[in-house]
Amino acid sequence: MILPFTEPFKIKMVENIYKSTREQRESWIKEASYNLFNLKSEQVFIDLLTDSGTGAMSDKQWSSMMVGDESYAGASSYYKLKDAINDITGFNYYLPTHQGRAAENVLFSVLVKEGDLVPGNSHFDTTKGHIEFRKAQAVDCTIDIAYDITAWHPFKGNVDITKLENVLKNNPADKISCIIVTITNNTGGGQPVSMENLREVGKLSKRYGVKFIIDSARFAENAYFIKTREEGYAEKDIREIVREMFSYADGMTMSSKKDAIVNMGGFIGFRDEELFRQASTFNIIYEGFITYGGMSGRDMNALAQGLYEGTEFDYLESRINQVACLGKKLKDYGIPILEPFGGHAIFIDAKKFLQEIPKEEFPAQTLAIELYIEGGLRGVEIGALMADRDPETRENRYPELEMVRLAIPRRVYTNNHMDYVAAVAGNVFERRNNIKRGVSIKWEAPLMRHFTVKLERK
Ligand code: F0G
Repeated sequence: MILPFTEPFKIKMVENIYKSTREQRESWIKEASYNLFNLKSEQVFIDLLTDSGTGAMSDKQWSSMMVGDESYAGASSYYKLKDAINDITGFNYYLPTHQGRAAENVLFSVLVKEGDLVPGNSHFDTTKGHIEFRKAQAVDCTIDIAYDITAWHPFKGNVDITKLENVLKNNPADKISCIIVTITNNTGGGQPVSMENLREVGKLSKRYGVKFIIDSARFAENAYFIKTREEGYAEKDIREIVREMFSYADGMTMSSKKDAIVNMGGFIGFRDEELFRQASTFNIIYEGFITYGGMSGRDMNALAQGLYEGTEFDYLESRINQVACLGKKLKDYGIPILEPFGGHAIFIDAKKFLQEIPKEEFPAQTLAIELYIEGGLRGVEIGALMADRDPETRENRYPELEMVRLAIPRRVYTNNHMDYVAAVAGNVFERRNNIKRGVSIKWEAPLMRHFTVKLERK
């Protein structure tokens, strides 16, 4: 018999979580203006809002924190992290930042100017936010099949090379800040990008003299998919694959809160010393001196260790299979979900789930609210609320995909928790025809509204 996959760790410390009653949840979500970001965490039973910064650190990470060096300049923790980043990614230069969006802020301060274009594969919302804030435009060049949510494609996060080349061909190189490829593609459903695709993007970036940056939050999960799905990589080690992926790029931004399994932190990796120097000035202004940039020494130590743990095959196998198990259970209930399953999350197709709710009433947000009321489960809307308004016309943007994301924190929940989550979604699915009205906006912020929006039930 082939032995099943299992977690390559055992549990040393636990944190209690509390169930609540349906009545409590109904009143809490109303008080929270139907925005799940406004809930207190103790009002949530299973928190699948995000896999970002919510992972469980290992004993080795915790112990490395005890020997963190908190010197302002030249801390040993900075050099420890420098060695780990160089070893894992191949980048020689790096700047620590307090998280991924801070890395974007610092790097884009050098690269992005008003009127520029930034082609990529469905930029993450903070990436897009930083681009639009600078009055530049994010151009989505994801392959079309990504929008067919049940079509099988092993690398649905891929960039459409023709779309990308058209952007590069039809615009002067100095109008293009850089190409950004996000691995795995979070907005598109946690879908991976193939090595072949990264190689092709790398070639185009060189041919047109435009920098190629990888948004690397889930780079290790991407490498797992390359190993298990792309021809020629089955025998390669995850770390070898990771090095090759980054070899095609000029730099990377990293939210360490995902695949490096720390609760806070980020960095920018550079090949080019000049770009590193230019970005250093902004790092000092926005983050801190270049040898700590928004991170404590102890946090840099934990991150250095996390980069190694996050790129272990056995860990990645159990992680990605846990997500897939949840996906299979939801599918068994008949719930429409995005396939293939994402690396870090399962995405429920809210348009198909709640067919009677018009897009103007935010079906994905409505479904997220129902899941919470049903079982204290917190997911997140990835749909029209998050897509925000067009910066020019101020009209609502309605993206092709209207989804609820259930993101699984790393090394935190058991498979019993996943059974519970599936049952909650199954119960809502059974009563879906009684959910006839969605929500409308009472108040919204001018940018990135979904975090603070206030809603009311229709
Ligand atoms: N890029 C990607 C692909 C991300 O998924 C995120 C964050 C960021 C950049 C920004 O990093 O949060 O450290 O500032 N994603 C989180 C999520 C918030 O829930 O998917 P950050």
